[in-house]
Amino acid sequence: MGTEQQKVAVVTGASSGIGAATARRLAAEGFSVVLTARRTDRIEALAKEIGGRAHTLDVTDRAAVDAFAATLDQVDILVNNAGGAIGAESVEKGDPADWLAMYQVNVLGVLNVTQALLPALRASGDGTVLILSSTAGLAAYEGGGGYVAAKHATHTIAATLRLELVGEPIRVIEIAPGMVKSEGFAVTRFRGDEAKAEAVYAGVSHPLTSEDIADTVAWAVTRPSHVNIDLLVVRPRAQASNYKVHRD
Ligand SMILES: NC(=O)c1ccc[n+]([C@@H]2O[C@H](COP(=O)([O-])OP(=O)(O)OC[C@H]3O[C@@H](n4cnc5c(N)ncnc54)[C@H](OP(=O)(O)O)[C@@H]3O)[C@@H](O)[C@H]2O)c1
Repeated sequence: MGTEQQKVAVVTGASSGIGAATARRLAAEGFSVVLTARRTDRIEALAKEIGGRAHTLDVTDRAAVDAFAATLDQVDILVNNAGGAIGAESVEKGDPADWLAMYQVNVLGVLNVTQALLPALRASGDGTVLILSSTAGLAAYEGGGGYVAAKHATHTIAATLRLELVGEPIRVIEIAPGMVKSEGFAVTRFRGDEAKAEAVYAGVSHPLTSEDIADTVAWAVTRPSHVNIDLLVVRPRAQASNYKVHRD
């Protein structure tokens, strides 16, 4: 980055999958990366590898998020990535506790971290809030249940925040991935059942990888400051909609 001050990027959920790949990629692009997640050992190891900083953080814990924000003296980019799905039951069979947990991480988690870091992003004079939603936030699918509902809310946070911040030096970018074969997503959705998780991708030629999404994050945040990528929908070639997936 020449003589310019190094920009600071905070990545939530950087212990696995898309968040870890994003932390790695942003470090390679020259950012000083602050990695956060609940699994300290993982973020500490990755921070060491990429020359970043690790901070253990549960994004659903508002007091912890505020305490984290107080440790930062500069934030230029916030990547709200922490999230996930729990269960694939129909609306009729869904467990309200799962719905609540998904709302807490995918919606209130984004709200908590964004609210806490907005003053620093504003103070940077050129801030970016990036929100990882999902194609589940744009259209329903059977068995999507509480995840579809939560990610629709995540999508709406991005849209609302962009309206509210217009005129300020802060971009609001939403990236909505389709099928990504990440480290933990399907395993979490099926509560640790590896066979069910693997079946999600069965016969699909080249689902997206975490690195593919990290690539779109890096591209979106490195556009010139006046360019706001409002919404980027990214799917593998083998997927034409949430439920139309080609399997060999
Ligand atoms: N994979 C897909 O097909 C797909 C598609 C569209 C969108 N997405 C979205 O992409 C994001 C990343 O998912 P992924 O596929 O990379 O899954 P993943 O490998 O399971 O990673 C999820 C990350 O979120 C973190 N996390 C979960 N709950 C958290 C909490 N309460 N506080 C802080 N961190 C938390 C996890 O870290 P700890 O467990 O260490 O806290 C982990 O680093 C999620 O928002 C997901 O909904 C995924």
